[in-house]
Amino acid sequence: MEIKKVAVLGAGAMGHGIAQLAAMSGYQVTMRDIKQEFVDAGMKKIRWSIGKFIEKGKISPPQAEKALKNLRPLVSLKEAVEEADFVIEAVPEKLELKRQVFKDIDSYAPAHAILATNTSALPITEIAEATNRSEKVIGMHFFNPPALMRLIEVVMGEKTNEETLKLTMDLSKQLGKDPVLCKKDVPGFIANRITISGTNLVAWMVHKGDYTIEEVDAAAMFKAGMPMGTFALLDFTGLDIAYHVMMFMEEREPNFVVSPLIKEKMAKGEIGVKAGKGFYSYPEVGKWAMPQISQDKAEKFDPMTQTYVMANVAAELIRNDVATPEDIDKTLKLGFNMPIGVLELADTLGLDLIVSKLKEIEAQYGEFFKPSPLLKEMVKKGELGTKSGKGFYSYK
Ligand SMILES: NC(=O)c1ccc[n+]([C@@H]2O[C@H](COP(=O)([O-])OP(=O)(O)OC[C@H]3O[C@@H](n4cnc5c(N)ncnc54)[C@H](O)[C@@H]3O)[C@@H](O)[C@H]2O)c1
Repeated sequence: MEIKKVAVLGAGAMGHGIAQLAAMSGYQVTMRDIKQEFVDAGMKKIRWSIGKFIEKGKISPPQAEKALKNLRPLVSLKEAVEEADFVIEAVPEKLELKRQVFKDIDSYAPAHAILATNTSALPITEIAEATNRSEKVIGMHFFNPPALMRLIEVVMGEKTNEETLKLTMDLSKQLGKDPVLCKKDVPGFIANRITISGTNLVAWMVHKGDYTIEEVDAAAMFKAGMPMGTFALLDFTGLDIAYHVMMFMEEREPNFVVSPLIKEKMAKGEIGVKAGKGFYSYPEVGKWAMPQISQDKAEKFDPMTQTYVMANVAAELIRNDVATPEDIDKTLKLGFNMPIGVLELADTLGLDLIVSKLKEIEAQYGEFFKPSPLLKEMVKKGELGTKSGKGFYSYK
């Protein structure tokens, strides 16, 4: 099957970006939202963004014109999907809403059409069950903004078949992206599962009074050379986004408990820069200002703490055949602009050190942090990372 027509459902932050990307890549695109004003707002953002692409010399005005001609904004769902070869859903992150949307698409879209969801964390399998074509339903997790970020996490539902996977991988590449494969429908997939687990641990550490917010962030900046620390980053992106993924993990993942610090902040509406207050205060609501933290605060906290946990979650993904080491590291580098993948970093730090750190963390913060059997086995075999010539990767 050749994909020519792509339907995008939702013209919000992600939907308009995905529609723009597909149109710029030469596909015939319909973009559907529930009200004309939302569709119009999406089109306005697309025109603005395409203007930026021209300004930067990335596309020519005739190419821009062609891309805009490829786009058909719509309010009717039936019209949007009735000729589609590939549908990408980007409606709000609510399971029942997505299930309803998939049920509707299933009744209007051609039998051959693949139905993809851009969910950040919801189960692909349960969305697929709302249709009569579970084998043609798949996760296609774009990163924001879709026109610029190179990563797509392609996520298999329980019934997704190989042909659907192949077509989705091919389409991702045609869109100029670098897809990674998440072979199983695990909560948080690869990207959010790994990063959220590290974030949640430091939130527990602060909740228990072991470190302060400033100590954690100062160590990240002044010892690890990160542009900002975990809590500043949560303020910057909005705590609400991380919170929803975390709560979903808590619901679905044995032993994963969200730190009360996160829940309290959410309950108070202190969700970061967009509220004027988060873990830090912002004089102007909605305007980012880098929190001022003094360097002497950096002394106490080990900035690799999150890495131990992230490497552990990654090891479990490998052990359970969810993802390869290469895809895991690619996910973190392309999705979060990390200079080095978590498994490359784990190899450099030494897997023996990671296991011993995890044992300490587990003793204080609970079973979720228990060292992965894979890590323990690697250490037992002498696969310690760069220092032994073999870890997650091989070294000369
Ligand atoms: N924003 C991000 O950074 C990001 C990143 C990756 C994935 N996602 C995921 O993408 C999805 C969309 O997120 P968003 O940030 O674009 O949300 P958004 O709120 O900006 O946009 C959602 C749009 O969907 C529209 N909508 C609601 N019901 C609809 C329906 N039945 N049919 C068509 N459109 C409908 C809304 O009117 C709105 O315009 C979510 O599942 C989210 O988890 C978001």
